[in-house]
Amino acid sequence: MKIVVVGTGYVGLVTGTCFAEVGIDTTCIDIDQKKIDKLRVGEIPIFEPGLEEMVKRNTQKKRLHFETDIAKVLDDAEVVFIAVGTPPDEDGSADLKHVLNVAKDIGNHMSSYTVVVTKSTVPVGTAKKVNEAIQKQLEIRGEDISFDVASNPEFLKEGAAIEDFMKPDRIVVGVESDEAKHTMKQLYKPFMLNGHPIIFMDVPSAEMTKYAANAMLATKISFMNDIANLCEILGANVNLVRKGIGSDPRIGSRFIYPGIGYGGSCFPKDVKALIKTAEENDYKMRVLEAVESVNEHQKTILYQKVENHFGRENLKGKKIAIWGLSFKPQTNDMREAPSVVLIKRLLEAGCKIAAYDPVAKEEAREMLGDSIEYKSDQYEVLINADCLLIVTEWSEFRFPNYRVMEKLMAQKLIFDGRNILDIEKLKSLSFNYHCIGLNA
Ligand code: UGA
Repeated sequence: MKIVVVGTGYVGLVTGTCFAEVGIDTTCIDIDQKKIDKLRVGEIPIFEPGLEEMVKRNTQKKRLHFETDIAKVLDDAEVVFIAVGTPPDEDGSADLKHVLNVAKDIGNHMSSYTVVVTKSTVPVGTAKKVNEAIQKQLEIRGEDISFDVASNPEFLKEGAAIEDFMKPDRIVVGVESDEAKHTMKQLYKPFMLNGHPIIFMDVPSAEMTKYAANAMLATKISFMNDIANLCEILGANVNLVRKGIGSDPRIGSRFIYPGIGYGGSCFPKDVKALIKTAEENDYKMRVLEAVESVNEHQKTILYQKVENHFGRENLKGKKIAIWGLSFKPQTNDMREAPSVVLIKRLLEAGCKIAAYDPVAKEEAREMLGDSIEYKSDQYEVLINADCLLIVTEWSEFRFPNYRVMEKLMAQKLIFDGRNILDIEKLKSLSFNYHCIGLNA
């Protein structure tokens, strides 16, 4: 089987590479020639554990190819995935221009029956628009070639993308014909060996499933952040409350960790887009509006704690150390990272900031310029620091050398936005420790 994946962003590159890994002849397309040149020699533009080796291995085995021109490869492709970006418009709705441009290209160049699959996160109704765009080009060409448009949303997480793709919880596919269903079943067979289900449904339901999944997960997080803030006020401990509720399988223990708000390229964008889609259809997503508003508030919570401790008037000139900049561990992605909101607030108050992140230094610099110092070691940022803020829960921050920390810091003061440090240990060493959802 030969397939084409258009768009070598996060989803496209992981999708293409994982299909190649199971032996499917895959060509990844991107209009960015420089990116394609780099990918051909195994240089990948993102940090994702295991991906670079996988790209290299499959390129060498000639199962994975990179091209800029879709016209060259469409001829014998049975399936074409559209995995290009859908950046949010100013009003929060997803911008479909890239998706529809690809659809136009496909309509211009396809020569036999093809299953065209939308993989990017796209609003309900997009597959229909893709279908119309392809049909229009075929009519212009005067060709009568049959095709199907399917929706196959992606559920992988950054930092665990390969594991998620290779061993998915489920594969959701929206189809409109038996032929497309059969093709998609064949394609995904290698990923279903350990009993994970492929769930077929109609196209709009598949499109909606993606948004509903992300919106539900974002809701869990905002709900827990709200509960955490109330725990703090009432003298309860959210870590214990989390364990207490998580053992109920109807609630589940995953994705209920309070923190400093969700970020990344998916939750913020998808929650906004779903609110917008509802609005356009005269419906109000009341829960999701609250989810978003809690999240905006939560991104400022660590700053508030720092301000409450020192007093706003005393923040000028305070030396703040930061551990972690990326929106979550195992990625260099800074999109919608809560660290950016926090750092901007601290800078406005006149603080001096030194930050360390294991991989996101350059990406952070692109966003924050030289307004803060970037260090290459987690202890270096602590020299003479008035406090440490833990922003991303990288594993290397979980068991730090407290003895070294107390020697380096001007004050033994920590604000932990991810609740990862050992409260008892810190108490025994007389650190002043603040975290989320409990009074340590
Ligand atoms: C998310 C979903 O988890 C994936 O299933 C989905 O495919 C993806 O979006 C997408 O739409 O492409 P991702 O954005 O990579 O994946 O990251 P997550 O691991 O889900 O974390 C999202 C945010 O939630 C992070 O800021 C994280 O710190 C926060 N979070 C997560 C919490 O604050 N608490 C938790 O318990 C879990």
